[in-house]
Amino acid sequence: MTMTRRQALHLLGLGAALSVSGCSLLGRTPLPRLLESTAPLPAPYTVPLPLPAVAKPVRTDAHTDYYELVQRQAEVEILPGLRTPIWGYGGQFPGPTIRARSGRRTVVQVANRLGVPTVTHLHGGHTPAESDGYPTDLVQPGTRRDHTFPLDQRAATLWYHDHRMDYTGPQVWRGLAGFFLVSDQEEESLPLPSGERDIPLMICDRSFNADGSMPYPARHDGPGAREAFMGGVLGDVILVNGAAWPELRVDRARYRLRLLNGSNARTYELALPAGGTLVQIGSDGGLLAAPRPLDRVRLAPGERADVIVDFAAYRVGDRVELRNLLEEGPQARVMRFAVDRDARDDSAIPTTLSRIEVLDPAKAKVTRDFQFASGDVHGHTGWLINGRPFDTGHVEARPRLGDIEVWRITSDVAHPVHLHLDHFQVLSVAGERRGGPPEWKDTVELRESQTVEIVTRFTGYRGRYVMHCHNLEHEDMAMMTNFEVI
Ligand code: C2O
Ligand code: CU
Ligand code: CU
Repeated sequence: MTMTRRQALHLLGLGAALSVSGCSLLGRTPLPRLLESTAPLPAPYTVPLPLPAVAKPVRTDAHTDYYELVQRQAEVEILPGLRTPIWGYGGQFPGPTIRARSGRRTVVQVANRLGVPTVTHLHGGHTPAESDGYPTDLVQPGTRRDHTFPLDQRAATLWYHDHRMDYTGPQVWRGLAGFFLVSDQEEESLPLPSGERDIPLMICDRSFNADGSMPYPARHDGPGAREAFMGGVLGDVILVNGAAWPELRVDRARYRLRLLNGSNARTYELALPAGGTLVQIGSDGGLLAAPRPLDRVRLAPGERADVIVDFAAYRVGDRVELRNLLEEGPQARVMRFAVDRDARDDSAIPTTLSRIEVLDPAKAKVTRDFQFASGDVHGHTGWLINGRPFDTGHVEARPRLGDIEVWRITSDVAHPVHLHLDHFQVLSVAGERRGGPPEWKDTVELRESQTVEIVTRFTGYRGRYVMHCHNLEHEDMAMMTNFEVI
């Protein structure tokens, strides 16, 4: 096996530190850190991949589907023979999948039967501010709140998750996340794999105590993770749809896999065994213009990639591992596909998937700069944007409704940056213009010491929204800022 220098450094655990050597600040800037399980790690590929239940509307009328999700504690078996307490929408982890339709109003009532306040945000949703899950729009224990999603947006793999100010990391870690899949006519007119061959995969890492519970290294004197984990919490067990290193039996046919990185702080570079191709058809904001065959798909926390895998390339009886190339050992494993039988396949991957409007940066009214870096937060080391910790009272940017703007974002260590309300297009990464047709994103990974330029248009709703780092420990330790669409 040949390795790039970066991969070699990574294997030594030195990737981030050495690749920025020469910058003294970074020596002190903490990186995500592994929280080791005290429970024995389970054997891989012994449990079937669970598919989250599909939520049923409690009511529908001419224009609207109504759902109710009850957040409650439950016990589930993740490690064999052990009970793991989780907090779940519907008592499930992942929560029920909502399958919604573009342009059809969807109202989700969230009832909180947990002992702590919660906030629910639809990640990737083009949502009015009052339903967007602003971090202090708390749903107190014993109360409920309606979220109205007009869904005037394209088909895409979205997800909902907790967004409570200062506590998103621990609350998502305990299980508060689920899929929200939006379809539309354009997508339905394509012969893509569907039904049982359209599979959402929520990938996240967790660690386990010997009694089966999932520890979180919370600080005792306030919100956030303990000093050692302020760079981010990594688990040593990789879960897919809430199961540890599961296996899925597949036909010799094409499957659409909706990959979501739901981890707090772990980044993946997903790949099949050598020679295996993942054909990417979609990104955070829905279909790409054309399919993109890849030998690996990189996903930072919050990012999604819809890929097609054609298992007809394998033989019945083959076992096909999906691995994370950024790791070795147990954390390099993600899940396995067991090729089970021959089957008919009427699906295809069209050479054109969608028409995507190119946002022209020359039309931008404003270019703004955002610096993501560590710094002092009320006497502790934390994470700042433009030198400030998150402050609900401070608005960093006031874009006008309808305007195109270029946002230039810089990093110290790696930060997956997420924008609420509108999807964006990436213009350049580390000074290099992005080639190829544009795609719609809502989360973009900045590697260490990078600048990324994005272009977006503020559409739909006025009001106050957030931009933040989707490393949830960074987010909780204040790496978030407000923009107000005026
Ligand atoms: Cu997925 Cu503001 O978050
Ligand atoms: Cu979001
Ligand atoms: Cu960050």
